[in-house]
Amino acid sequence: MATIVIDGQNFDVAEGRNLLETCLELGFDLPYFCWHPAMGSVGSCRQCAVQVYANDDDQRGRLVMACMTPVTPGLRASTTLESVRQFRETSIEVLMANHPHDCPVCEEGGECHLQDMTILSGHHSRTFRGAKKTYPNQNLGPCIGHEMNRCITCYRCVRFYGDYAGGSDLQAMSSRENVYFGRHTDGTLESPFSGNLVEVCPTGVFTDKPYSQSFTRKWDLQSAPSICTLCSLGCNTNPNERSGKIKRIVNRYHNDINGYFLCDRGRFGFAHLNNARPTVYALQQPTKGLLETTPEMAWEQVSNLLQETPKDALWGLGSSRATVEENQLLKQLVGKKHYFAGTTDRELALVQLVTGIYQLAATRSASLKDIEHSDAVLIIGEDLTHTAPMMALSVRQSSRHRAFELADGARIPRWQDAAVRNIAQDERSPVMQVQSYATPLDAIASHTFRANPQGMADQIDAITAAVLATPSDASEDWAHQVAQHLLTANNPCVIAGTSAGSVGLLKATLRLMEALYAKRAAPIATAMVVQDSNSMGLALSQPVSGAETLVARLTAIEAPQTLVCLQTDLYTLVASEAVDRLWERGHRLVVIDNMASETGAKSVIFMPATTAVESEGTLINNEGRAQRYFSVYTPQDVLKDTWRMLVQLLALRQPGSVENSVDHYDAMVAHCIKQDPALAYLVAVAPDAH
Ligand code: FES
Repeated sequence: MATIVIDGQNFDVAEGRNLLETCLELGFDLPYFCWHPAMGSVGSCRQCAVQVYANDDDQRGRLVMACMTPVTPGLRASTTLESVRQFRETSIEVLMANHPHDCPVCEEGGECHLQDMTILSGHHSRTFRGAKKTYPNQNLGPCIGHEMNRCITCYRCVRFYGDYAGGSDLQAMSSRENVYFGRHTDGTLESPFSGNLVEVCPTGVFTDKPYSQSFTRKWDLQSAPSICTLCSLGCNTNPNERSGKIKRIVNRYHNDINGYFLCDRGRFGFAHLNNARPTVYALQQPTKGLLETTPEMAWEQVSNLLQETPKDALWGLGSSRATVEENQLLKQLVGKKHYFAGTTDRELALVQLVTGIYQLAATRSASLKDIEHSDAVLIIGEDLTHTAPMMALSVRQSSRHRAFELADGARIPRWQDAAVRNIAQDERSPVMQVQSYATPLDAIASHTFRANPQGMADQIDAITAAVLATPSDASEDWAHQVAQHLLTANNPCVIAGTSAGSVGLLKATLRLMEALYAKRAAPIATAMVVQDSNSMGLALSQPVSGAETLVARLTAIEAPQTLVCLQTDLYTLVASEAVDRLWERGHRLVVIDNMASETGAKSVIFMPATTAVESEGTLINNEGRAQRYFSVYTPQDVLKDTWRMLVQLLALRQPGSVENSVDHYDAMVAHCIKQDPALAYLVAVAPDAH
């Protein structure tokens, strides 16, 4: 801790951090552009000027950039001295000289960092009367708009895009006093993290193109805390809605998961929430197929179907897209012995193996933040940029650990971004991969081994043998090098998952974890990637088996059975002929879904469900972390929460099994916990309605 004086007040603060960050945390309003909490300082915008004094006798002081000044014991600073205030005002006046007067039509208006900082710095009226510099804009593809005239050259965009996310097609190009941030030629930005430009750019140079095309001012948007459902990481988001449509999705900060950023899939992949989704009830009509009906008619048919379905003839297919609560209600509806997972038998076995690995004493579940802090990473059979993009971004940050070590040695603060990158040059911490094919992380990998899943498992066993043999075996081969890195690193991390589809590979990973644990005598940070947003929750709900087993069981039964299928397309999991045979046998299908599918088309009764932005529920991410999402807006028309439909089905099928009071979310959660006390954690995930 260091005692410092800011504007005449004493504060005890952490030593070694930069003065800007410290001032902001203490509540001082210092303007800034180029500093970013995740990217550190480069001192390019000159906005955060303060006066610092060498000692108590120093009456003159000197003007410094707060973002480039480390906090040291006894530091004295003034943020309000007239000369520094004047400096900041003049700096921003210069930056604003070429900035267009387009706030009323700029997408950034109302949430513009530049607007806020300009007013904060005291630059209220313009005196510049010359011609403004103008630049051509580029077509950067379907996601990102470009309005280069708004640029204030803070360099945040290229620092994020290139330095932080590893992209190479966006550059700062300059000639004399002209600086241009863009691509060499027009074209779609290649980085899967390009959408973050919209949030890191403080001025509106890079804008969210789909949002701009159907624009709404920020204050007209409705929002609620949500969870991305497009991979298993559970990044925190804020979907923004107006008039029953999601307009955009922005990042919601979570220190341990996505931090300040989102991948493009999570940010832009929401069209299915607005379009081409089933919003009406439908009944199967002989020769005519599935035809729209009223909710009343559909519920009457469901009631009849449930009444005529004998006690042991009701089956359920849970979903890795549905919430913990919805799967639990389905399980209660059909009974434990008839509750199956809406995933393949193999995927279910793999995810169950993953949950087993997490429970070993040898492992500890690693968050994305833990991965960032790792100084040696081994990736086994996962193309992270595609299966869990934000984890790939974390791996990129972990590779900087070596740079931080070099900076520490040279007594350069880690937040001195340019200096740290300069001293490190191309030095990186080990990122080791055992993969089937080339991936975007090859560019930063120190060790890559390619093989098919069996070959990968053999290679992991070779690493395990090398771990156990060390130090007596001084071999220098590939496996020994990887083993050495895993044994000598301070915080090694092993990343694996289910996308290689290999039980053998996961079992080999398990053996490696136990060998590392035996040698290091401490649990190893372990990150497992699974398929969907609630694959973990589905596996933990203890289904009998996966979809193939369910289809085989139903095929073997002559008497008509009823299957309730929850947010799953059976045809993507089991061969079409095998599924069709079920309906040929006279088995009946009830589908509850918020997406159109082949399975929905074959249902006798189709019930449209709400999406994650219209409802509330709990998902368990790849780490085993339970997170709640909340309803951004009330669904329109006939749409009902899936859990409400399941409660209604329960009341029809098992009168008295569900209390009348289960008419709001908290009561439903209490009901689920009563059915399965292992779900008691659900009440701790988020506050209740009160
Ligand atoms: Fe300090 Fe830009 S924030 S110079």
